[in-house]
Amino acid sequence: MSTENNLLSKKGFTSNLGAIMAAAGGSIGLGNIWRFPYTVGANGGGAFIIVYLIFVVLLGVPLVMSELMLGRRSGKNAVGTFRALAPKHRSWQLVGLIGILAAFLIYSFYSVVFGWTLNFTGQAFTGSILNQDEAQIFAFFAHPYFPLIGLAVALSLTAAVVVAGVQKGIEKCTKILMPVLFVIILLLCLRAVTLPDASKGLSFIFKPDFSKLTSKAILNALGQSMFSLSIGMCALITYGSYIRKEDNLFASSLWIAGADTAIAILAGIAIFPAVFSFGFSPAEGPSLVYVVLPKVFNSMPFGHFFSILFFLLLSIAALTSTILLLEILVMWAVEELKMKRWVATIAVSTVIFIIGALCSLSFGPLKEYTIFGDTLFDFFDKLTATYMMPFGALCISLFIGWYYPKNEIIDEFSNKGTIKTGYLKIFYFLMRYIVPVALLIVLLTGILGL
Ligand code: PFF
Repeated sequence: MSTENNLLSKKGFTSNLGAIMAAAGGSIGLGNIWRFPYTVGANGGGAFIIVYLIFVVLLGVPLVMSELMLGRRSGKNAVGTFRALAPKHRSWQLVGLIGILAAFLIYSFYSVVFGWTLNFTGQAFTGSILNQDEAQIFAFFAHPYFPLIGLAVALSLTAAVVVAGVQKGIEKCTKILMPVLFVIILLLCLRAVTLPDASKGLSFIFKPDFSKLTSKAILNALGQSMFSLSIGMCALITYGSYIRKEDNLFASSLWIAGADTAIAILAGIAIFPAVFSFGFSPAEGPSLVYVVLPKVFNSMPFGHFFSILFFLLLSIAALTSTILLLEILVMWAVEELKMKRWVATIAVSTVIFIIGALCSLSFGPLKEYTIFGDTLFDFFDKLTATYMMPFGALCISLFIGWYYPKNEIIDEFSNKGTIKTGYLKIFYFLMRYIVPVALLIVLLTGILGL
């Protein structure tokens, strides 16, 4: 099969640990530490988290498994995967194309937030962040060109890693950054739970109040789980194509989904007790970590030190995810448009800088230009996480559950019959019935505004 040749000629991850670190790094990002806390805050706390966890177990894990499996089977990018695995039905390639488009849109607004984060990290080091008031911070977001400097640095950092390749760039970098990220978040959690009245914040996340659960909150929980696990847009197909044939895909998927979920919960534990302890509101929206947290750090003993740790954490999390976002696009450009890797990296980064700049300006000069009532930034965020990713995931579940031959799936998960695949029955049942039906219901409810 040409698929095998393709894999042999491609330099993938050198170890199972390297693959897990890279994919977990791609999943753990601003979504866990910036988006998860404010989404939990805006959707009522504990009950939202329970729905989120249900989505992770029932939909997230099988979808992570599916994407990694499809990528490893084909050894190709998002579009090439569907062309290789469904040669007679070319329309499946649209699923890959939607994924590529989603990666473009996400990378555009995500790199803006990464840029802010780098700026805040610099200010945390100098200590100036502690004394900024809200107006100054919003003035920075709305500034016509200051945030663009951070955006350019964010894109350049990411490009420097991606251009070095999968082994020397992505694997090496994530293997160093992920353990650092884990240690930092544990330190921040320790700090938060030892603050006075920390229990208020903890009960906000751990004591569910189901009366606060709306259908919108359920849709948001689905979108958050898709965004956080980076599923439904063929991101993990991209990394899956670099995974070694002898690695256990089921175990790897559990590690990736488990690490992502653990970091989201730990981020909640690091943030909410601190927010409640100093009497701030958890429902601040996207500005929660940028506006509320600096004030929290200002009031807390050793706040300067912890502010540095927090923004470093956010920068690391953002970088390992932008690496994945750029790799999706670069791999597609290299394989489909036959570009050289370095040319593709520069070309994609330049296009993203332009769209990203528009997203950034939508906080200031372009604020009045809205699409369906949202600024460009909010529109991209909502369109991708709430609609494109669940839709992509629905297509992938139909592909796996109803289209792609079951024996091929078994062959890939069992590494050609060499490892046991007892769990495959549950996986198959979920992908055939539960995942598509759940996605359809939640998507329709959201679209029809029920
Ligand atoms: N999962 C990332 C996060 O939680 O921040 C966001 C993301 C990265 C989504 C890469 C999609 C993707 F392809």
